[in-house]
Amino acid sequence: MTVHFIGAGPGAPDLLTLRGRDLIASCPVCLYAGSLVPEEILAHCPQGAKIVNTAPLHIEQIMDEIRAADTAGHDVARLHSGDLSVWSAMGEQLRRLKSEGIAVTVTPGVPAFAAAAAALGAELTLPGLAQSVVLTRTPGRASSMPEGETLTNFAATGATLAIHLSIQNIAGVVGDLTPAYGANCPVAVIYRASWPDQQIIRGTLADIETRMGGAGITRTALILVGPALAGDGFDESCLYSVDYDRRYRPQSADSPWTDWTPESEVQP
Ligand SMILES: C[S@@+](CC[C@H](N)C(=O)[O-])C[C@H]1O[C@@H](n2cnc3c(N)ncnc32)[C@H](O)[C@@H]1O
Repeated sequence: MTVHFIGAGPGAPDLLTLRGRDLIASCPVCLYAGSLVPEEILAHCPQGAKIVNTAPLHIEQIMDEIRAADTAGHDVARLHSGDLSVWSAMGEQLRRLKSEGIAVTVTPGVPAFAAAAAALGAELTLPGLAQSVVLTRTPGRASSMPEGETLTNFAATGATLAIHLSIQNIAGVVGDLTPAYGANCPVAVIYRASWPDQQIIRGTLADIETRMGGAGITRTALILVGPALAGDGFDESCLYSVDYDRRYRPQSADSPWTDWTPESEVQP
């Protein structure tokens, strides 16, 4: 028996990997985080599958479902929204499963920040403007932040910030970021990226709160902040530059890459 953790993607049911779909189809039990996983994805479950929404359950009730499946010898598809590497609560389940000797696999999913960037049609790392993306959040009722992981500290880097779980704290976000990024720094709020009711609100640190005014967005939104959001004023990458000498496009017979093939690369 195996528990297959599967990233169910940001919302659109077709933003699921083929591996995730096939695993769901192979499992007689499906546990899904119903607050953000779209119901359409459950259509991949086999006929007669036991399907449980874990949104109202606590961790021990979830473990009881897994133990019951284990006793029956049934594999479990465990669905969480987006990808499992961030804010999925997979860690605490893995710890228990490991201690009980239950096998697991992990299949990645499309994270919300990638769906939000796609909704904007934006690259978050533009040469000369930002080469890092910080996936972060602000403290919530149930989650404090480790010392040092503050917005003001991240702002000092000038990176693109993808701020999760914080839309209800937009005023605090603006207040913390404005000293480092400046009032004119571009901001985008993406509500339910890839869902049919997706909304995008663009602005600057100075006016984003006003622009959000009547939208009534209180959850399931990402705040993207940083100079790269302007989508302008950046350098060209070397990758496709006309005269950049690289292994896939040597510029002359003297290029060190002329004789390079994937097979000739010396592996460490
Ligand atoms: C519990 S976290 C889940 C993150 C998820 N594991 C991921 O890979 O993106 C939930 C937060 O992610 C963001 N989020 C999740 N889905 C989203 C979507 N479709 N559009 C915008 N933000 C989303 C919101 O900030 C929300 O408060």
